[in-house]
Amino acid sequence: MSLVIASSDGLVSRTLGRVRASYHAAMPHHRLRRYVGDAADIPTYTSVRERLLLFDEATTVLSLSPQACHIVEVGSYLGASAAVLAEVLRRERPDNGRLYCIDTWNNDAMSEGVRDTYEQFRANTSRWQDLITPIRSSSTQISLHESLQLALVFIDGDHSYEMVTADINRFAPHIIPEGRLILHDHRSKPGVARALGNLLESGQWVIQRCVESLVSLRRAPWTTTTS
Ligand SMILES: C[S@@+](CC[C@H](N)C(=O)[O-])C[C@H]1O[C@@H](n2cnc3c(N)ncnc32)[C@H](O)[C@@H]1O
Repeated sequence: MSLVIASSDGLVSRTLGRVRASYHAAMPHHRLRRYVGDAADIPTYTSVRERLLLFDEATTVLSLSPQACHIVEVGSYLGASAAVLAEVLRRERPDNGRLYCIDTWNNDAMSEGVRDTYEQFRANTSRWQDLITPIRSSSTQISLHESLQLALVFIDGDHSYEMVTADINRFAPHIIPEGRLILHDHRSKPGVARALGNLLESGQWVIQRCVESLVSLRRAPWTTTTS
């Protein structure tokens, strides 16, 4: 009798699990709100499904290596994607993980025109301020300590070929094997598409996941970092 009860409990919980999974698949915004609350509604060009991919990839990669727990984001704008990445750190690495957000916060290379977005970024991400280090600078001015190891780099700044390539060259060598390099807008910006082609041609990166215009590349395990 107890066996029957146990198996019917299992059936109920499996069924509930499937119902929950299909609900979340059908209602991505609801899932994102569960993770980041009101930050799911921060204005952004990164769609809900794309931000969920960021969440899933960051969650996966932070379990890879206890040493590499840092994330770099180039192009944070009002904080929508930063909130997602910081929330993963809060869940997975609250004590030793950091998210470095690099942006001029002047809306550089944005079609909407120049404006100062820094205060909005700070307000929108205040819940995660202990995990985020904002670096107000052009990404071209950043130099990294050669021993720095990164679990994930998200590039969403200036989308011209020259600038995306410069960002990749600056940050990608610090990504650990199996770590992630995530690019935004490869479907709408030719410069990003071309830079993506170069990465794939190098044999050092393989596509792990792709949703809409966000592509997550996994660093091939046979490659080495700068350290
Ligand atoms: C498309 S928005 C980023 C969107 C953000 N990732 C999100 O999901 O909401 C691009 C951002 O890149 C910044 N940016 C452009 N060129 C930059 C550069 N050379 N260095 C740093 N930030 C830059 C802009 O100021 C802008 O805030």
